[in-house]
Amino acid sequence: MNGRRVHVAVAEAYDVWVGAGEAFVAEALAALVGEARRGVVITDRNVAGAGHAARVEAIWRRLGAEVETLVVAAGEASKDLATYGGLLETLAERGYDRGTVIAAVGGGVVGDLAGFVAATFLRGVPFVQLPTSLLAMVDASTGGKTGLDLRAGKNLVGAFHQPRGVVIDVTALATLGEIDLREGAVELVKHALLTDAAWFAPLRTAAGLTLPDRSDGSAWSALIAAGVRVKAEVVAADPFERSIRAHLNLGHTLAHALEAATGHGLRHGAAVALGLAFAAELGAARGYYDWRSDARAVVALAQAKPPDLALSTLMPYLARDKKRRDGRLRFVLLREPGVPFVCDDVSLQEIEQAYARVRTLPMGEMR
Ligand SMILES: NC(=O)c1ccc[n+]([C@@H]2O[C@H](COP(=O)([O-])OP(=O)(O)OC[C@H]3O[C@@H](n4cnc5c(N)ncnc54)[C@H](O)[C@@H]3O)[C@@H](O)[C@H]2O)c1
Ligand SMILES: [Zn+2]
Repeated sequence: MNGRRVHVAVAEAYDVWVGAGEAFVAEALAALVGEARRGVVITDRNVAGAGHAARVEAIWRRLGAEVETLVVAAGEASKDLATYGGLLETLAERGYDRGTVIAAVGGGVVGDLAGFVAATFLRGVPFVQLPTSLLAMVDASTGGKTGLDLRAGKNLVGAFHQPRGVVIDVTALATLGEIDLREGAVELVKHALLTDAAWFAPLRTAAGLTLPDRSDGSAWSALIAAGVRVKAEVVAADPFERSIRAHLNLGHTLAHALEAATGHGLRHGAAVALGLAFAAELGAARGYYDWRSDARAVVALAQAKPPDLALSTLMPYLARDKKRRDGRLRFVLLREPGVPFVCDDVSLQEIEQAYARVRTLPMGEMR
């Protein structure tokens, strides 16, 4: 070897805390942000209205910090440059320094937005995630992907910025809308499919996939912790999505095309459910593990109705995805139970057949 080599052993391990109630949140926050003098809670109007931000603020204050809450409008539209810029200007005007900790209290929108603020304000301040939607609990809050949408598309700007920790209080699910609960459940099932997880088996009933009652904190804690573990293991092995992190895109290639082709008229969870059914069809036609019944149960759970879109209309959107990924269409398939791989040689004929089945199966009307 020529010259010298200095190793920079960077590592950012952290814990996801899963539990229920104020005492649990207080214990987790004391461990994660106990030293912070100043804290900023970023949340949205719905989550603030449901009392979740005020509760976190009060708990944090009792730990001795000076805390203020900044509220943005609810919904994907807040993941934009204007809202982001407004938050940065506010933080700067009020003189927040590097000792400030940001807490994202809300769904994936708040997590991505507040995380990107934390990643970039003063070149990065620490942040914690306190997800309140099921999707944010099982998926978005862990893994360090933060960012915003641009006019040209979703999540086109962002940074990898890992939180100092994630605190999941499952009691927040009590106020979440029914559709949002089902949206999150789709990603939970996706995580189960990636590992053939035994923790998932009790949800499979004769009537399809059945979620625990919202008031059953211990059932939800167990499910969410198991779902997060799948994500945590994948992210730890591939933090910057250079290889296996792509497995988390199970069902998402078709989903992103469906969402774009419908101008986001189709919700993400519904689109992913249809994407899962599509991936199951592709795999079954090749003789891989046949998980079509699970996939159809997810479609019913998500109450997803296939949009009336011809494949010819959808193809340009799939091709856009392909352009972004060096010229090949990639679908995550399951070779065996819990054994995903990225398949990049799916033919147009296979796509036609699988898509035709997804469009015509009597799904979405089951519940
Ligand atoms: N960073 C990642 O790795 C990652 C992964 C998946 C998704 N995402 C992002 O997450 C976003 C979607 O997240 P989402 O589905 O949570 O959407 P969201 O943040 O818009 O939340 C859904 C709705 O539920 C409300 N809400 C959230 N928690 C509530 C509660 N406990 N009580 C009452 N209302 C509540 C919100 O105000 C909103 O109206 C997308 O922007 C997506 O790009 C990020
Ligand atoms: Zn998703």
